[in-house]
Amino acid sequence: MKQLELLHEGKSKLIYATDSAERIVVRFKDDATAFYNIKRAKIQNKARMNCEISSMVLGYLNENGVKTHFVERLDDEAQLCKVVKHIPVEVIVRNVIAGSMAKRLGIEEGIVPENTIFDLCLMDERLGDPLINDHHAVALGVVTYEELAEIYAASARINSLLVELYAKVGVKLVDFKIEFGRSDDGALFLADELTPDTCRLWDVESGEPLDKDRFRRDMGRVREAYEEVAKRLHNALNK
Ligand code: TMP
Ligand code: ASP
Repeated sequence: MKQLELLHEGKSKLIYATDSAERIVVRFKDDATAFYNIKRAKIQNKARMNCEISSMVLGYLNENGVKTHFVERLDDEAQLCKVVKHIPVEVIVRNVIAGSMAKRLGIEEGIVPENTIFDLCLMDERLGDPLINDHHAVALGVVTYEELAEIYAASARINSLLVELYAKVGVKLVDFKIEFGRSDDGALFLADELTPDTCRLWDVESGEPLDKDRFRRDMGRVREAYEEVAKRLHNALNK
């Protein structure tokens, strides 16, 4: 499979066409941004760590019957992925209260609710990917209620599998963000990375974050945290 022209440059990834209309190359970058580009830096080795982590996690989901766009890892920093038609919403799954939910509702970070929380955001950077609800999403014409039911069911299944995986490596999966797409035949696919950029991961023993909050909150040892996650997953999945 040949990597061809650049189709899209995002904040942390580059997307390339290939010689197959059904495949793209996703190439990770060392760049880190937070708060919509207000804070920027390069984190040495992040591209390689995120490629490795996301390849292991999406591979694990594929093996457990979740359809993801991940096909294979191509090199240190790139994956071959399936082309899907992107659905312009983000689903945030929360097992522990943290981040924007803690702030918005004045709840202390670290509180564990009895239910799993699903947030829906509209993907529109100019608006700062605003939090919306199901009715907004349907009114905007981006999804139907039936599609939302399928998306939430897939998100719940992904959450269970990830909670189980991370528990095995001494990590609490606090929350994460995912995006979906559809293949030509209408099947729903997880079409996103799953990395410490897009998940909150707390070390069970120390409670220390092993994710991008270390960058967002100037906590230091960002690269070391990503490397720790990669190492633990590597050992657990025998990769
Ligand atoms: P939040 O608490 O800031 O809403 O973030 C919830 C989760 O979503 C957290 O794991 C980080 C992830 N996330 C992204 O992947 N991209 C984003 O743009 C934002 C705001 C959050
Ligand atoms: N959407 C945020 C940014 O641009 C990323 C984040 O905080 O995870 O920079």
